[in-house]
Amino acid sequence: MCGIVGYIGNQNSQGILVEGLKKLEYRGYDSAGIAVFTQEGLQVVKAKGRLANLESKLEEHPLAGSAGIGHTRWATHGKPSDANSHPHTDNSQKFSVVHNGIVENYLELKEELMAGGAHFTSETDTEVISHLIAREYEGDIVKAVQKAITYMRGAFALGVLTEYEPDKLVAVRQASPLIIGIGEGENFIGSDIPALLKYTRNVYILNDGEMAVLTRDAVELMTIEGNFIAREMITVDWDAVTAEKAGYEHFMLKEIHEQPRAYRDTMLGRVNAEGNKVILPELSLTEEQIKNIRNIQIVACGTAYHAGLVGRTMIESLVRIPVENDVASEYRYRSPIVSPETLVIVVSQSGETADTLAALREAQANGAHVLAITNVVGSSIAREANDVLVTLAGPEIAVASTKAYTSQLIALALFSLYLAEVRGTQTAEQVAHILAAMQALPEQVETILAQKDAIKTYAEQISDNKHLFFIGRGVDYAVATEGSLKLKEISYIHSEAYAAGELKHGTLALIEDGIPVIALATQEAVLEKTVSNIKEVKARGAEVLAITHEEHVTDLLKSVDQAFVIPKTLPLLTPTLSVVTLQLLAYYTSLALGHDVDKPRNLAKSVTVE
Ligand code: G6P
Repeated sequence: MCGIVGYIGNQNSQGILVEGLKKLEYRGYDSAGIAVFTQEGLQVVKAKGRLANLESKLEEHPLAGSAGIGHTRWATHGKPSDANSHPHTDNSQKFSVVHNGIVENYLELKEELMAGGAHFTSETDTEVISHLIAREYEGDIVKAVQKAITYMRGAFALGVLTEYEPDKLVAVRQASPLIIGIGEGENFIGSDIPALLKYTRNVYILNDGEMAVLTRDAVELMTIEGNFIAREMITVDWDAVTAEKAGYEHFMLKEIHEQPRAYRDTMLGRVNAEGNKVILPELSLTEEQIKNIRNIQIVACGTAYHAGLVGRTMIESLVRIPVENDVASEYRYRSPIVSPETLVIVVSQSGETADTLAALREAQANGAHVLAITNVVGSSIAREANDVLVTLAGPEIAVASTKAYTSQLIALALFSLYLAEVRGTQTAEQVAHILAAMQALPEQVETILAQKDAIKTYAEQISDNKHLFFIGRGVDYAVATEGSLKLKEISYIHSEAYAAGELKHGTLALIEDGIPVIALATQEAVLEKTVSNIKEVKARGAEVLAITHEEHVTDLLKSVDQAFVIPKTLPLLTPTLSVVTLQLLAYYTSLALGHDVDKPRNLAKSVTVE
């Protein structure tokens, strides 16, 4: 999984490519490189490591020229190294390629190309593409690319340049995201919108099996078979500032603070003026289809999967339809039992996660209607799903997902209420009551953000622990899973989330003196039970922090060492608040340990490989 940029225009391309790559580092950041048409021909500079390494190389060897391609890599085939960095060239050095995705049959192709005399300089699957294009070139780069991809199986987004036709930049999309940016006298390619935002808001989104030929003054879109296509240009309304850090030390902290706005935006226009009805005109699901739903499966990966756990409780308690949660990488291979009366909800921030996309296809192939909840309009998942409910969190840059998760919770709550209205499982008064509580959430989040100094102090206290536990019941348990993942992702501290009542069936053996246990205790219906579980760990020496409502603090403090208070809301909505405390906790723990908060080791923002 990698990020691609490309430029053809009248300005010096080096700065534009590097700027674009900076905005795409969240897609991968173990090495980077650019290729530019210079007076001496097509020249490539690449460097292992963060983009800063490439920048220092470019200071020594600047590449002057007004057309180029660039790449930031997250290794799949071959370790991170200068040689494995993109762009890759053929032996004549006349063709240069950047690639995102995987060429599944690259070994076969490599053998064939080597037999034909090609000499390989990297371990990547990508290098076969540059050799293939060079082999197929007969004076027309577009035809050569089209021919080359007929031999390739797998997922790829490509940017291709050849010294023979310096006025053309060729882009291909096959199961990996790619967009085309339109400027005046200049055009761009990019894996994602933030890469282009500084230069243009006008974009074409390529579909699978499509390609684009860019010159300085024009963009031609066609299928990979060469049939020209017309596409409406989309104007992106994200401003450049939205994609920047806005004064925060890290994107993650900025994104945590953006949550009140993200909640509001995700609800915007989806509640009627009286405040007692959810309106979702974007959905094609008919009343009849909704009434016929017999079961729901919520499928996702990572943080989005955790949002689905909360979604399950929301739907089951408000609508009484049975819901299963599945991790997408399991779902796609477990022969899921699906019927036309099954609604499958896929949840994905990026809309590009390969496993989630495959699960969506599996569900559709079995006859299910698929609703996607995603943050990226025009993403693969958004385009393939039968229905899309967009979360309006805005671009999320930090690898650890925060505002996307909470916006998913808001979208799931809205959708649950919508189902409840159509199926008549909640009265208009009940719906109004829940919606009023939802409207209050953004301000309530602010009160949690105001406690960040206390959370920071606690984070510093726990940061030298090697193990930690999160416990809770019901939706508190669902939030515990997300809190634990957040902490693991960015602090590298081992933590586990446990259903509070399950601890005693084995894991209690791990509790010993001084182990921090974070107990979510917001669910009144099971509060006493949770307190019993807290006592079980306390008795074994744990240091317990409780997250609870004001009214329970005094009582709870008889059993725990410390408590953080979250504002009172309806039990089903507490995850949208309690998780904010846990996000801040993970953030400040990572900060205390001096880790790279926004770009944790071994992880990437968007995982477009299986
Ligand atoms: C990656 C990210 C996670 C994310 C997961 C699913 O692993 O690091 O933060 O939750 O992918 O991503 P999606 O874009 O489908 O929500």
